[in-house]
Amino acid sequence: MIKNRRKIHEGKAKVLYEGPKTGTIIQHFKDDATAFNGERHEIIDGKGVLNNRITEYIFLAMEEIGIATHFIKRLNMREQLIKKVEIIPLEVVVRNVIAGSLAKKLGMKEGTKLSRSIIEYYYKDDALNDPMVTDEHITAFDWATPSELEDMVATTLRVNDFLTGLFYGIGIQLVDFKLEFGRHVEDGNMRIILADEFSPDNCRLWDIKTGEKLDKDRFRQNLGGLVNAYQEVARRLGILNENGDVIDSDEKVKGDKPTLVK
Ligand code: TMP
Ligand code: ASP
Repeated sequence: MIKNRRKIHEGKAKVLYEGPKTGTIIQHFKDDATAFNGERHEIIDGKGVLNNRITEYIFLAMEEIGIATHFIKRLNMREQLIKKVEIIPLEVVVRNVIAGSLAKKLGMKEGTKLSRSIIEYYYKDDALNDPMVTDEHITAFDWATPSELEDMVATTLRVNDFLTGLFYGIGIQLVDFKLEFGRHVEDGNMRIILADEFSPDNCRLWDIKTGEKLDKDRFRQNLGGLVNAYQEVARRLGILNENGDVIDSDEKVKGDKPTLVK
């Protein structure tokens, strides 16, 4: 771990430090869990380690199919090296099944499959409690250009199709999730790449057979067993060893593959 490094930003679940080279950042995953815009807060031992590893796995898989992300490499149990981007102040949410705020807002039953996936945008501003916005607001206020928004939507739908299949293969229904994007300049060209993280903190994952929640709703709804649930996701992805420990950086493990559930 680099000593005396400069902290750039501290969020609710992660800290960003200046990276070793220009244009790089170290993303540190904390054990903090918050809900309702930080109103509830708890430390959950081991959550950061799992989210670091799950995000690494998912972002590497995306890179493999040609979706550009900010991920460079994992540094240790809690930290990863990422590319510095200019974050677009939007949370892009995709929903495949009715749950969470959609169920609440429209008085609909949780668990109903949507006939087509829905994309929603939220403006990232804690003071305003991340209000939902439309594409009209996004382009009128220059949070993103129409072509950037088009790129984000196309990437989001690709991520959704890919991850829906990936999780289906390990017996998990991808109900909904949140993505964030950033502008990255490489060789003088600017493009939009996937940023932030992908972990059970930012998505809903339900066991296909039992309906059990394997995501942060365990915390939001006081169900308990959050670490066990995240471990179960990691185990099915093939990134936990037999002792239930997260497989560390260069530990090359046979069977480091998703566990197919029949
Ligand atoms: P919602 O149903 O509460 O609107 O959440 C939709 C999805 O977005 C769900 O998978 C959780 C994720 N999410 C975040 O990652 N961060 C947030 O601040 C919120 C509200 C939701
Ligand atoms: N991440 C948000 C918070 O800190 C909301 C959530 O995930 O439910 O409150």
